Amino acid sequence: MKKNFSVAIAGGGSTYTPDMLEMLCLVREDFPLRKVVLYDIDADRQEHIGKFGEILFREYYPEAEFSYTTDPQKAFEDIDFVLVQIRAGGLKMRELDEKIPLKYGVIGQETCGPGGFAYGMRSVPAMIELVKTIRRYSPEAWILNYSNPAAIVAEATKRVFPDDYRLINICDMPISIMDIFCPLAGGRKRTDVEPRYYGLNHFGWFTHMYDKKTGEDVLPEMLEKLKTGDCDRELGYSGKNDDYWNFTFRHLEKMVQDFPHSLPNTYMQYYLYPDTMVKHSDPNYTRANTVIDGRERRVKEYCDGVASLNQIRGTQYDLDLKYSRGSHLDADGSFASATVAHNDAHATYIVELAMSIAYNQNDIFLIITENKGIVPNLSEGMMLEVACRVGINGAEPLRIQEAGAFEKGLLEGQYAYEKLTVDAALEGSYQKALMALTVSRTVGDAELARTLLDEYIAANGEYFPKLV
Ligand code: G6P
Ligand code: MN
Repeated sequence: MKKNFSVAIAGGGSTYTPDMLEMLCLVREDFPLRKVVLYDIDADRQEHIGKFGEILFREYYPEAEFSYTTDPQKAFEDIDFVLVQIRAGGLKMRELDEKIPLKYGVIGQETCGPGGFAYGMRSVPAMIELVKTIRRYSPEAWILNYSNPAAIVAEATKRVFPDDYRLINICDMPISIMDIFCPLAGGRKRTDVEPRYYGLNHFGWFTHMYDKKTGEDVLPEMLEKLKTGDCDRELGYSGKNDDYWNFTFRHLEKMVQDFPHSLPNTYMQYYLYPDTMVKHSDPNYTRANTVIDGRERRVKEYCDGVASLNQIRGTQYDLDLKYSRGSHLDADGSFASATVAHNDAHATYIVELAMSIAYNQNDIFLIITENKGIVPNLSEGMMLEVACRVGINGAEPLRIQEAGAFEKGLLEGQYAYEKLTVDAALEGSYQKALMALTVSRTVGDAELARTLLDEYIAANGEYFPKLV
């Protein structure tokens, strides 16, 4: 007899929440739940998703109790898993994070470069407060965290909650890369291979992809195809993604042509080709605008549409929740219908992780965890994103080979930036913030760093810790 678990989603108003709810419905036989609660500090934003969730659970999952709330006690009492996806400052602040540096010809991106710094300064205090709140009501809950910038959030949570092995920071980007590009290796799916990968979050490389059955490393085969620069013909990803992601996935081919020994995370494009990326950006209409006008509007319309009919089954919003018992471990992600936000990996990955913990499956996941000899020639304490076995006792990292000179040089510089950013946020230090932005290879000039810092402080007001 399986235990029935309880799940809270923090950041319930997120555009990703509907797909997560759908995913929980899909796995209801293998991961039975007794309750699901959404929590958000923005009641209005969450209301749209909450109304949709009520109808979804009424029709597809009546055994589980569903609710949404802005009261942390109601949200986090008696909870086994908290799935966290908060965005401190919302998409409005993301827009400023991106637009301020672009005025100066510097990378303007959600998590990379100065934008990631500003987001980090908001996220660190917000995440620390949230974790403390969750711990007050459910000291033993598993906190599975997607909140960005994950590298900086992970560095901060390591320092503030050093022994809390039930707090796990993750990212869906490597998984998305695998979903899209693994078919280059003889038509394999993501779940046919076990990755080896290392780096900081949004700053790392796949070094191997081992076929689960034969142990063969299929990454060289993938890299050979990527080098030809014509993968969309075989993979057809351009039919499934928007222009930004299509550009990004094509750019991955360019990165492999220039540095063919490993498969980089797509976000390496911001560090290796900043000029290209700035030229490709529109300083007046950034990714935040695309998301606000696209995914956010679409999700809201979908949820409101369901609410106005007060019904899903048999309507235009009908969900194809086909799922065969026991199939989740073999799924390629597409079985998570991801009807609304169209991000297959996001919901699938976090729910698979919760299940691996719940049933002590010890499956392999890429987790952001502290370097204690995992990569021996990188700084101890660095928050590495690496392959870990994950079960009831937390994440056990697999040791991997030494970092090459190219990667080590890039990683140590980036880690200095991340550490200084966390210092600045925790100590309220203007000096540390100035050093953080100066050391970031996307800025690289102290005068420019000061200009950006002062603009960010003015734009962020109370969202930032006070910097003196
Ligand atoms: C990937 C990354 C996330 C990031 C997201 C941005 O999923 O792993 O960390 O937030 O992309 O996507 P968006 O569509 O919001 O630009
Ligand atoms: Mn990510």
